Amino acid sequence: MKTTGGSDDAKRRAGERAAEEATDGMVVGLGTGSTTAHAIRALGRAVDSGLDIRGIPTSFQSRQLAIEAGIPLTALDEVETVHLAIDGTDQFAGRHLIKGGGAAHTREKLVDSAAERFVVVADPSKQAEVLDHPVPVEVLPDAWTVVTEEIAAKVGGEATLREAERKDGPVVTDNGNLVLDCDFDEVRDPAMLALDLAAIPGVVEHGLFINLVDTVYVGTDDGVEEHQF
Ligand code: 5RP
Repeated sequence: MKTTGGSDDAKRRAGERAAEEATDGMVVGLGTGSTTAHAIRALGRAVDSGLDIRGIPTSFQSRQLAIEAGIPLTALDEVETVHLAIDGTDQFAGRHLIKGGGAAHTREKLVDSAAERFVVVADPSKQAEVLDHPVPVEVLPDAWTVVTEEIAAKVGGEATLREAERKDGPVVTDNGNLVLDCDFDEVRDPAMLALDLAAIPGVVEHGLFINLVDTVYVGTDDGVEEHQF
């Protein structure tokens, strides 16, 4: 699993706090990343102790973790309601997020948006006054050069094709697509940028999550801060 900024203890506190929200009968969206992994493990321990939930994974990684943790799985098209989604973030400013550090933001957005309640787990390194992290954009494989040019010409950003580690060539998402990491410097109007990116042909999904989150749990050295929206 990739590692990101912030201590593992802080991530664990946030993940375990979010997992406490799951109650019997819930369908729970399972996000991706090292912080959500702590929530998935905590949910697995709770299932072991009798908690009756079903999980909807958002990636190959979260599916594998959930299987290892013993969480019964279902799928978005098999349920009427997703009661709770727990997911990580690369950066948050107020209620807006940038996600996709794990190249899973397309399925994450699908599941997180469908949930009645969406909670984010983070460490203090993820909090910002103004979003300025590169925005991951999943694109159809043969669209990457065209989308790169459109982003430079029409949206004012610099797109870089995400390269894989321990594989030659680019990262290929769970959906068989590529990822552009797009630098816009400071994102002063995330909602407008989200609309501009979504309008580019060839873009499958971008990593801006606008006004979706209900609570952000930030794990710290000695506790958990709650940001309610
Ligand atoms: C994956 C994501 C992750 O939630 C995000 O990258 C945060 O990961 P981590 O908890 O490892 O810092 O958006 O696509």
